[in-house]
Amino acid sequence: MIVPVFEGLDKAPNNTTIGLGRGASIAVKAAAASDAISGKAGETLSVWTKECTVIFVGVGDKDILTHKIARDTGAKCLANLSKDLGTDIVVRFTSGWSARNIIAFVEGMILRDYKFDKYQKKDSGKNQSDWNLECQVNGRHLEKGLAASIEKVHRVATGVHLARDLANEPANHLYPDEYGRRALEWAKDKENIEVEVWNYARLQKEDMQGLIAVGKGSVNKPCMVFFRLNKDVDIDSEAPCIVGKGITFDSGGISIKGSSGMDEMKLDMHGSATVFGLFQALYATGHKGRVNGIACMAENMPSAEAYRPGDVIDTYSGKTIEVLNTDAEGRNVLADGLWKAGELNPSYIIDLATLTGSIVIALGHEATGLFSNNQDLSQRIKDAGEYVDELAWPMPLLPGLEKQMTSSKIADVRNQGKGRWGGAIQAAGFLKQFVQEKEDSDGKKKQIPWAHLDIAGTAGIWAGDSNATVGHGATGIQVRALHHLITQD
Ligand code: BES
Ligand code: ZN
Ligand code: ZN
Repeated sequence: MIVPVFEGLDKAPNNTTIGLGRGASIAVKAAAASDAISGKAGETLSVWTKECTVIFVGVGDKDILTHKIARDTGAKCLANLSKDLGTDIVVRFTSGWSARNIIAFVEGMILRDYKFDKYQKKDSGKNQSDWNLECQVNGRHLEKGLAASIEKVHRVATGVHLARDLANEPANHLYPDEYGRRALEWAKDKENIEVEVWNYARLQKEDMQGLIAVGKGSVNKPCMVFFRLNKDVDIDSEAPCIVGKGITFDSGGISIKGSSGMDEMKLDMHGSATVFGLFQALYATGHKGRVNGIACMAENMPSAEAYRPGDVIDTYSGKTIEVLNTDAEGRNVLADGLWKAGELNPSYIIDLATLTGSIVIALGHEATGLFSNNQDLSQRIKDAGEYVDELAWPMPLLPGLEKQMTSSKIADVRNQGKGRWGGAIQAAGFLKQFVQEKEDSDGKKKQIPWAHLDIAGTAGIWAGDSNATVGHGATGIQVRALHHLITQD
């Protein structure tokens, strides 16, 4: 039994020992009143009783408790539990807990309950059962639908965990066609979901040369995967379209990367993992609206058939790209994905990409870079990020840096700027060239509302721990934020 407690604890909160026997109750109350736990953040105290082990978890000052702190505390609490003590857990929320913070605490536990251990031998001596979690709260909360809210975060978490699974998967196991196969298999028994895969032959027929150029150097050929949720709903009205960069491995290609840390580049398809995970989250929570998704899948490898620096690509849009660096490949595949998104009558387009090292310099691992041509959309994404604590920080689209990308001497755009400075903004300026225009109500042509999320810094945790809901590896970032944005729930 877990009892989260606030700082200044001098006796067991009301209701702490309800249901426990007399002996256990005395022991637990004595422990709570002792100096062994004061409720400071990070403190824990375990009290063994015959009926169950009671664990007090300090969450710190009640007056400054935020949902971020509550979620991270729940996450750390779960990470420290041992299944050797059994897998049935009860979390008992005593007085002073708001519904929002209860939900966040439990959400933290659920999100942290994740391991990517499919390639490891299981220790047969260890308890491998799933956790069984029960929450106990004041009746007032139940009347306000707390149980349904917790069920919802649980369902959204299935999407987060799916995104992590995909992004953690090594590149020899998850290549473009395998992503497509998994998407088709996932869609198979779901009535309101349609997945369509454009394989290499189809890409050639459609002239998707941006995606082809990047992917052709690998034996694992590229593909484009379409996700459609509720495709028959409101077919005449606009719907959101979410586009993901899906480089299953980014070696850099002919402009090859250094070897240090190159293993992390299996995660370069996290944008597409987020798209897939988002559709799972929307499906699992029963979202009724129509939503489109596009995953641009390719493996960026050097070979005799690879694209080269100096090549000019004739993209799906009709615009040409001068390739100056084959390691700036994400933008080349997104050029085709974004243009295609513009054909799907979008209300707005959001792309997700582990696009630049530069955004990691700017924002560290704390926030996703948010670029947009539309103030209202940008604000809504920022708000959604704040609501679920997946921060998306507004970055500018600067005309001078955009101009660097459109000043190729021989093509319409170039895939690298004129220097390193402002690299994430250069990349965003490049992508903007592939957002289509449409006529507004007074017949004026205007770009479709579009936002670009550079998740290079937030997609994975390899060192440091700014995100307690993840132990190691892929984070599943932006699934919860985009789910909130789309459902507003
Ligand atoms: N996938 C990388 C960006 C990246 C860096 C993702 C670190 C995750 C962590 C991207 O394809 C890349 O190589 N970008 C280059 C672009 C440059 C060559 C213009 C970069 O940012 O250095
Ligand atoms: Zn690259
Ligand atoms: Zn990349």
